[in-house]
Amino acid sequence: MQRNEGKIVIVTQERPDQGMVNEGDSRPLPAIRCRSLIRRYGDVTAVDGLDLEIPRGECFGLLGPNGAGKTTTVEILEGINTPDSGSVEILGSRWGEGNDRGLRERLGVQLQETRFAERLTVEETVGLFRSFFRFGPEVKEIIRTVELTEKRSTRVVNLSGGQKQRLALACAIVGDPEILFLDEPTTGLDPQARLKFWELIEAFRKREVTVMLTTHYMEEAARLCDRVAIMDRGRVIALDRPSALVESLGGRQMIEFRVAEGFDGTALESLPGVSSVSARNGDYLLAVSHVAEVLPLLMSEIRRQGLHLVNLSTHQATLEDVFIQLTGRKLRDV
Ligand SMILES: Nc1ncnc2c1ncn2[C@@H]1O[C@H](COP(=O)(O)OP(=O)(O)O)[C@@H](O)[C@H]1O
Ligand SMILES: [Mg+2]
Repeated sequence: MQRNEGKIVIVTQERPDQGMVNEGDSRPLPAIRCRSLIRRYGDVTAVDGLDLEIPRGECFGLLGPNGAGKTTTVEILEGINTPDSGSVEILGSRWGEGNDRGLRERLGVQLQETRFAERLTVEETVGLFRSFFRFGPEVKEIIRTVELTEKRSTRVVNLSGGQKQRLALACAIVGDPEILFLDEPTTGLDPQARLKFWELIEAFRKREVTVMLTTHYMEEAARLCDRVAIMDRGRVIALDRPSALVESLGGRQMIEFRVAEGFDGTALESLPGVSSVSARNGDYLLAVSHVAEVLPLLMSEIRRQGLHLVNLSTHQATLEDVFIQLTGRKLRDV
C-alpha cells in the first residue's frame, strides 16, 4: 500500500510461488493436516481428538449440530485459537514457528459472525481489508467476484443479510487465498440468498481453491463438498464423499413412521429389503432399497401386533438420515 495525495493506492503484485511438495517426496503437501486435536473449555471438551487431512483443491465440509465443535476446530486451523494438545499443519507450516504472517496471507477467513463498520460503503470496507494484504486482486475485481458491483457505494448498514454475507466473503478473498475458511456462511439466509452464495462457492471450487466450510445444513454440505466430516460432540463420527455417506445407510429411500403406543420394533431389522433401522422417541426411520416392497411387510407387522399407524412418510435418503442413524438425533435437535 502506498500513500498518494491522501488516497490509498493498493499495489497489486503476484504472490511468489511457495513450496508445494514435501521435501524428498513428490507428493503434494496437503492443504490442511491436523492430528489428535483437543480443546477444552472448563468441563466442556469442544474438540475431542480430531484428525483431518485435506488435499489441496478440495471443498471439505464439517457438518454437525450447534455445539459440535466446528467453530473451535476451524479457529484452531486458522491459528486464532490454540489447542490444548495435538498438531496442526497448514500448507506445510505450523503456527507459532516464526512464519505466521506469511501463512496468514495465504488464507482467507470468514468468521461465523462478522461485524463491519456500518457507515462504511462496500467499496471502503473491501478496500480496508485489501490494504492488510500485500498480494491479491484489485478491490473492483473482488467486488465483482461476489456480485456486489451494483452495491459498491452502499453503506454496510443498508445491505441485506445475503449481501452482508457476500461482503464477508469479499473480505475473506482480498488476499487471493489458497485456503478459504467459511464458518456457517449461509446460516440465517433465505433460500434465494443461500442459493446465490452456493453459486459463488462453486466458482471457487472450479478455481481449485481449497475450501473448508462448516454448516449445519446437510443440503449445503451435500451440494458443495467433495468430502464431508460429520461432527458431533467434538469428534468426527463419519467422513466420506456425501454420496458414499448416504450409501452407507444401505438403502437410497427412507420410511419414517410412528405407530400407536406399545409397538415392538425388534422385527423390523429382519424384514426383507430393510437395511437399517433407527428409532428415536417412538419415531422409526428405515433405510430401504424399495419403498414399495417394504411397505406391505411393514403394514402387516403393525397389524400382527394389533396396532395402527399414527403417521408415515417416505423420502430419498440424505446426510440428515446418516446423522440420525449415527447419533439417534436430528442435526437441528440441539
Ligand atoms: N470461548 C468459549 N468458552 C467456553 N465454551 C466454549 C467457548 N467456545 C465454544 N465453547 C463450547 O464448546 C462447544 C463447541 O462449540 P463450537 O466450537 O462453537 O461449536 P459449533 O461451531 O459446532 O456450534 C460448545 O459446547 C460451546 O458451548
Ligand atoms: Mg459454530
